[in-house]
Amino acid sequence: MVKDKIASCNVISMPTGTIKMNTPPPTPVIGPPPKSTKYVGVKHTIMVMSGKGGVGKSTVSVNLAVALAKKFKVGLIDVDINGPDDPMLLGVSGKDVEVKGTQILPVKTPFGVDVISMGFMLPSDDTAIIWRGALRHKAIQQFLEEVQWEGYDYMVLDMPPGTGDEPLSISQLVPKVDGVVIVVTPQDVALLDARKAIDFCKKVEMKVLGIVENMSGFVCPHCGETTYIFKKGGGEEAAKKYNVPFLGRIPFSMEIVEGTDSGVPSASLNDTVSAIFTDIADKIVQSVDVAPSPK
Ligand SMILES: Nc1ncnc2c1ncn2[C@@H]1O[C@H](COP(=O)(O)OP(=O)(O)OP(=O)(O)O)[C@@H](O)[C@H]1O
Ligand SMILES: [Mg+2]
Repeated sequence: MVKDKIASCNVISMPTGTIKMNTPPPTPVIGPPPKSTKYVGVKHTIMVMSGKGGVGKSTVSVNLAVALAKKFKVGLIDVDINGPDDPMLLGVSGKDVEVKGTQILPVKTPFGVDVISMGFMLPSDDTAIIWRGALRHKAIQQFLEEVQWEGYDYMVLDMPPGTGDEPLSISQLVPKVDGVVIVVTPQDVALLDARKAIDFCKKVEMKVLGIVENMSGFVCPHCGETTYIFKKGGGEEAAKKYNVPFLGRIPFSMEIVEGTDSGVPSASLNDTVSAIFTDIADKIVQSVDVAPSPK
């Protein structure tokens, strides 16, 4: 009812008073937005997103990038402008970004991944970025178009939570996103979270490469028994239900917690978690190679 009113008149009655508009609100645009063409030179761009926060997008992005970097030249853009975590996860917090001519050089990490993040631009780790969408869009545009990405095989985009401004900016600024990796936790609510992310991809015509179920079971370091703290199987169920590939299950792991704190991603080590990320990376490479993303 309220929606009908909004569409048909320029005076809206709200519980706290009346809102008057000079002109009726524009009809929302649904569908792929127009593309910029200045982000060039990268063969494949992979976006890592989720329907909500704290599910492990940055963890998956960084480890996926490190796993890919064992075979390819890989860049990583920390698209989370307000909450940049990737410098810490890659052990390069506090590094300075260099400029060469008119281009910014990404920061090199010991893991073969080159990264750009708002974290490198801030005077201190405590500085809060309080920017509206338009400014964040501008920063993302600079990360894509003014950083030296020529010749990279894979670009991983670590998104902030949800389906708001930033993924929309990516859909406008990247001429071709090869595919989207959706991260969920294993609870039933994963279905709902995955559905939103999948719906976003459909609306902006991005291919879903698959779902990763993160924090899936904790292996006790003492007795070896697995406890499914957040239940099990939500990611796989969501993948089946929405008919997209299931890319893998990452356990809740102390190695990942320690890796986050020490800036050494698990994928750079030689353990079971590292093997899982390698497997996910292989599946992504295969699916990017086999099936072209929508034009
Ligand atoms: N599989 C895992 N095992 C143990 N800890 C994990 C795992 N995945 C993520 N974490 C931890 O959970 C926290 C949130 O992870 P992360 O920052 O990757 O989530 P995010 O989705 O990027 O969050 P945000 O939405 O805020 O960007 C971090 O402290 C991270 O170390
Ligand atoms: Mg994050």
